[in-house]
Amino acid sequence: MSGHSDRKLPRHVGIIMDGNGRWAQARGLPRIEGHRVGSESVRDVVRAARQLGLEAITLYAFSSQNWARPVDEVSGLMDLLRDFLQSERSEILDNEIRLKAIGDAEKLPPSVKAPLDELCAASAHHRKMTLTLALSYGGRESIAKAVSTLAADVAAGNVRAADIDADRFGSYLPTADLPPLDLVIRTSGEQRVSNFLLWEIAYAELMFVDIAWPDFRRQQLYRCLENYATRERRFGLTSAQVIDEDV
Ligand code: FPP
Repeated sequence: MSGHSDRKLPRHVGIIMDGNGRWAQARGLPRIEGHRVGSESVRDVVRAARQLGLEAITLYAFSSQNWARPVDEVSGLMDLLRDFLQSERSEILDNEIRLKAIGDAEKLPPSVKAPLDELCAASAHHRKMTLTLALSYGGRESIAKAVSTLAADVAAGNVRAADIDADRFGSYLPTADLPPLDLVIRTSGEQRVSNFLLWEIAYAELMFVDIAWPDFRRQQLYRCLENYATRERRFGLTSAQVIDEDV
């Protein structure tokens, strides 16, 4: 990849991997085949992210709402997740990637939860990149859970209500140990956030690409990063202020 300096490389990229079902249906294939080819995209994109030196990549792999999909599709997705954890185990460990999961892991079947917990624990000390899988995840659910924990801390006298600000609240979210979210990519042309990282997205750059997830590979990631590098991020400041800060 050329034309893009490290300074402009996002620290943390989130991806809404959309369009698997439509990709398969357009080819006369069952939807699960789109998810299977989509898991090949996951492998390629995660490898590329690690090689580029991104600090964190967060993938929306299964939403809180996805449990309502047909039983066959849900169990097929769980099988793909189990296979991914098994086949990528050594690559994750060899490349010093920390695997992390956010979402309601208790709802996952043991065939996914057990290898997930094991690999998260085995890789917890790794520092080269964090790969976060948002699994049984919803942004609203995540915020509601943080409110509940924070309220319990207030009730126990550990936190004063008057001391709650955005930073304090953010420390209760499961993403608190990740760098700020710089870029969110959504594939398949839909322009929605769909309950992904709602709090964290506040100042993220949003990119909607007109290509289904199974066709999104490292070349498409490079293109998104080149686009990101051209964007001016102002965080509420004026353009002149941002330019002054940069020099
Ligand atoms: C959205 O496409 C995608 C999902 C609900 C699942 C994403 C899962 C994978 C890419 C594979 C497994 C994940 C890992 C980490 C190995 P959709 O089915 O909503 O597409 P559609 O809008 O075309 O129906």
